[in-house]
Order: sequence, then C-alpha cells, then structure tokens
Amino acid sequence: MKRYHIAIVGATGMVGRTFRKVLEERQIDADYTLLASARSAGSVIHFMGKDHIVQVLNETCFEGKGIDIALFSAGGGTSLTYAPIAAAAGVVVVDNSSAWRMDPAVPLVVPEVNADAIPQYKNKGIIANPNCSTIQAVVALKPLHDAFGLKRVIYSTYQAVSGAGQAGFTDLEEGLKGVAPKKFPYPIAGNVLPHIDVFLPNGYTKEEQKMIDETRKIMGLPELAVTATTVRVPVFHGHSESINIELERPFEMEQVFDALRSFEGLVVEDDPDNNLYPLPIRAEDTDPVYVGRIRRDFSVENGINLWCVADNIRKGAATNAVQIAEALIKLWNS
Ligand code: A2P
Repeated sequence: MKRYHIAIVGATGMVGRTFRKVLEERQIDADYTLLASARSAGSVIHFMGKDHIVQVLNETCFEGKGIDIALFSAGGGTSLTYAPIAAAAGVVVVDNSSAWRMDPAVPLVVPEVNADAIPQYKNKGIIANPNCSTIQAVVALKPLHDAFGLKRVIYSTYQAVSGAGQAGFTDLEEGLKGVAPKKFPYPIAGNVLPHIDVFLPNGYTKEEQKMIDETRKIMGLPELAVTATTVRVPVFHGHSESINIELERPFEMEQVFDALRSFEGLVVEDDPDNNLYPLPIRAEDTDPVYVGRIRRDFSVENGINLWCVADNIRKGAATNAVQIAEALIKLWNS
C-alpha cells in the first residue's frame, strides 16, 4: 500500500499544534513536512516519534516532494496565495481558512454530514474546512433534517476566545489580571461581546454571515431560512450554541432523541434530573459534538430548542480537517 506524505502549513500555530496532536492520537502513519513562516523556519518539533525541522512556506516548497495532502492553517491570505501553488504541484489542500469556502468549485466538508462532496477536490485540488461554529451546528442539524426536514434555524452562539487564535486567548488570560485588551475592542474578562470578525454592510458580522452561508452550502439547502447572532464569551476552550429549529414534519420528542443519539459524531447529554447538559469544560480536548437541553419549542409548529457544545479547535478545526485527510486516504486506497 502506498505510503502517503502529509504537510502541515502553519504547524507552529494553535490549530497547527492540534493538527499534530490529533494525527499522533490517531497514529496516522505517513511522511510529514512541517511548514510555517520564516520566523520559525529551522526550529525543531518532535512529532510522530521523530524530530522535524520546520521549513519555510514559499513558492517552491511543494515542488517534487511527493506531498499528497497539505493541511493549511496559516491565515486566509496565506491560503489564498499558497493553496493554488500547492494544488498545481499535485497536492490536495485541506484548508482551514475562510478563503476558499464559498467558491462553488470547492467542496466544504464535514465528513459526518457531506462526505459525498469530497471527490469534488478534483475541481481545484482544494477542500475547505468550515467555520468552527458551523461545523458543530451542522452535525446536530443533519440527523434532524434527514428525519423531519429543516424549515428554519436560529443560531445564538457563545464562543470561546481560542477561536480568535493565540491573541484572543492572551486577551482573556491577561484581562483576568486587569490588563487592557489587544485583540478584542473591549475587555473580554467579565464581559460578553456581540461581535465576532468584522461588521458587514448588512449589519451582520462576518462570523454570522459565515454560519448562514456555510450551513446552506454544507447541508445542500441553498434556500434554507437561517439566521445567527454570534457572541464571544470569557471561555478559553469550546463553543456553545443555542439552536432553535423549525422542522417541516411533525415528530415525537422520543424520535428526535433517537435521531440525535444514533448519529455518528454526536453525543447526547440530556438528563435534567441530574443536571446533565453539555458544557465547554467537559468538551475541551475531545472530538464529539455534544447536544442537550433538547426540548419542544411550544411557540411554533414542529419546533425544538437544543444546546450544542464542541471543542472549537478540535472538531471545529483540526479534527475535522484530519477526518477529511483520512477520508481522502481511504478513497485513494479503495
Ligand atoms: P509562525 O509560527 O512561523 O509565525 P496562530 O493562528 O496560532 O497565530 O498560528 C498561525 C500559524 O500560521 C503559525 O504556524 C504561523 O507561523 C503560520 N503563518 C502565519 N503567516 C504565515 C506566512 N506568511 N507564511 C507561512 N506561515 C505563516
């Protein structure tokens, strides 16, 4: 069987570190090349039992290396420039940035939801990894759509500072000691900010628009009625979301629980008598998407409310990208 070669672009960053951790945990035996900016080129990282010298990402770094897959997490600008260069060298790029997500020729993939889109990588040599808050939401929505049909979705999010990279994390750490913020426009310690990413002319933030557009694309429902309010909260790890869902067809709550319980990648934590519901501190450093507080919305026909939590750096970024790489390898081996 062919031995594959995987590159990690942005190997020294927060998501890059988690790529390495997830690949080690899953023991994905391959040759590896670690790439980052000139700032960290030459530094040594111990990974998969070997010392790797970090190499600089440039126009020629993919040429003639036999790299099969590159996991990119080095910012949108870097992806925009270097993903096509990698693809031209025969590499399949799994891109964690927002640069390619809405390109109609680029599949946007959450393997539990739309693995059937993976072969579309052949169009441009790129597969996009969705936005963290969208990934966990669509894992919860898919079994409900399959069983009862989605009619309308309302997202309200409670997102961790790690979603804003190391700088966001530091703002909360230092903010708890009274230091003024550098990344966020206001203190995040003891506060909540209804503002993630930049504001758009339509009044939404870019994070909200990403949730709307990416949900429609991944679910294959371009007309789905969906809206979002995204909020940054003083939590280090794990995004939480209140999701209000209107379904097309009537249901019994037991059928809703069954659909959620039997879906791959979802864990139902719902036992009000024992105060059991999903929490970011429990989701931290794990891969599933957790759902709980599952209850009928009595204000509409066929409505439910649920609470959805996942580790935004793992399932929301690194784990999802590694799952895509695993699916590619399986496809090539078949
Ligand atoms: P470096 O560590 O050399 O700066 P984070 O999201 O935690 O800030 O991490 C960003 C990652 O992307 C880091 O690995 C960083 O490398 C890498 N990176 C940022 N800009 C570039 C660039 N222009 N070329 C290559 N890698 C980059």
